Amino acid sequence: MNHLLRTRDLSVDFVEKVVRWAESFKRRPLEKNPLDRRSLGLLFEKSSTRTRVSLEVAMVELGGHATYLPKHDLQIGRGESVDHTARVLSSYLHGIAMRTGSHETVETFASSSSAPVINALSDEAHPCQSLADLLTLKEVFPNLSDVELAWVGDGNNVANSVIEAAALAGIRLRVATPAGYEPDPSSINFAEERTEVVLTGDPAEAVEDADAVYTDVWVSMGDEEERGKRTRDFEGFSVTSRLLEGAPGAKVMHCMPIQGPEIEEKLVHSDRSLVFQQAENRLHASKAILEYLIS
Ligand code: CP
Ligand code: NVA
Repeated sequence: MNHLLRTRDLSVDFVEKVVRWAESFKRRPLEKNPLDRRSLGLLFEKSSTRTRVSLEVAMVELGGHATYLPKHDLQIGRGESVDHTARVLSSYLHGIAMRTGSHETVETFASSSSAPVINALSDEAHPCQSLADLLTLKEVFPNLSDVELAWVGDGNNVANSVIEAAALAGIRLRVATPAGYEPDPSSINFAEERTEVVLTGDPAEAVEDADAVYTDVWVSMGDEEERGKRTRDFEGFSVTSRLLEGAPGAKVMHCMPIQGPEIEEKLVHSDRSLVFQQAENRLHASKAILEYLIS
């Protein structure tokens, strides 16, 4: 049994296979039924549109079933332990996707679970997003090792996983964050062992001649109390047409949801935007992940 907790736990072969399977699910969405009578639990502590719905639809389209388990409706929401919950749920379900505040919770759950656990976003990682993003990048840039990807904004959960996925695909990275908002050092170390990585505090330096520029919200779920401080600290890190004058050919990426200040809305709807393609690709990547882990 395998869990999917962080992108950096994956091998290059696994990542290539998932992207290939996702491409084939996208071309022929309803050809296979590999998850007949399989059940996935979706144990979520936080809101979700893309992750939840893509996993639910993927289960149904692959012949299985998904059951949504918001934390406050389970006994875990009243204090039942993570260990007991994992042991019981994994005796009913073939897989559990979890969206938690603390990454430690998903690690603890996985260590007690007899079924595969998928990290559907923690405070440290968002592996499902990063695999879908590799599919999107591959659709636009078939030779990923030629790609230069700039990350501009918060070095958050999505940044950590996108950096790790890019490194596994041989994509070169330039990462611009304000001081104090850098990605997890272990994600950077992982990337530096595999590809070129430039870390800077200057968004213009990061985006210069990049092929794609990726950003995410400045205020992630759980960071709401810091909104005022973050809004001040991230000034100058908006992805705007002006910033992209230094990268005339660059595509723009965002995992969604979009809050506003981190990217100009007209860019999201422009012909350089990959944003909605990324969102659609969550479904195809979810299918590939589920087929691999729970069929
Ligand atoms: N990108 C992403 O994970 O979106 P949701 O929060 O809507 O699942
Ligand atoms: N960084 C964001 C991503 C949401 C998909 C958050 O954690 O809220």
